[in-house]
Amino acid sequence: MRIVMLGDIVGACGRQSVQQLIPEIHEKFKPDVLLANVENVANGSGLTPDQYRRLFDAGVDGMTMGDHALRKREIYKILQEKSNIIRPGNLPAGAPGKGSMAIEPRNTSLPPVYVIIVLGNMFMGLNANDPVASVDTLLAQIPRKDATIIVEMHAETTSEKQAMGWHLNGRVSAVLGSHTHVPTADAGILPSTKIGARRTAFQADLGMCGGHESVIGRRIEPVLSHLRTGVYMAFDVADKDPRINGVCLDVDQTTGSATAIERFVLHANPQKPPFMV
Ligand SMILES: [Fe+2]
Ligand SMILES: [Fe+2]
Repeated sequence: MRIVMLGDIVGACGRQSVQQLIPEIHEKFKPDVLLANVENVANGSGLTPDQYRRLFDAGVDGMTMGDHALRKREIYKILQEKSNIIRPGNLPAGAPGKGSMAIEPRNTSLPPVYVIIVLGNMFMGLNANDPVASVDTLLAQIPRKDATIIVEMHAETTSEKQAMGWHLNGRVSAVLGSHTHVPTADAGILPSTKIGARRTAFQADLGMCGGHESVIGRRIEPVLSHLRTGVYMAFDVADKDPRINGVCLDVDQTTGSATAIERFVLHANPQKPPFMV
């Protein structure tokens, strides 16, 4: 089974890039499931119900959200009720939504893909619970031992994400990092833990979908100005050099073992729809 997962979609530019390039993704990779992190769609922070619907209609099968999950109150109902969108599983117990989901592939003869997201603790500034204990609890709730399982580790440091990769090695199909918006060049399959154990794919960060002439998706000038003066200003979302970053992951659906992972970058054309031309 083939799964494509995209890094954090940032602002209108990111959403339009994804909408434009989904046909190319299907032509190139022919994924059975398309996943994306959508925490930054609403002008950089959060997601609105309208944006959720547009991305779903465009072909995003499963959506994840990190530290920006609860920025927009209007998305809480969707987080509670829809089966294809999750927020970090280690938020406080009363947080709206859920931390894991099962996505049915397009080819209905394939088993579901389970997706879990947890937040790291280092430099995140959120009241999150222990990601290791939380991910173990969520994994224990998955009914099948051989299930295809993607764990997204939404964290600031590559070290914490690597550590999660080793913690879950042999137990899940892939550990994929997000949040820093810059893709890392370490896509690979971790060494086998023991004979017969499933193989786990890993990449410390997926990168982002959005304007790459930017500071992690925001316009350069306000960020530099803040850096130089300390004065607070709006960090608008960038729109130049639109690209999408993601990985194409192959999993043996009979064992849940990863067989290949490839990082990719696709360039969007801002002169063509759905961009304003
Ligand atoms: Fe993000
Ligand atoms: Fe984030």
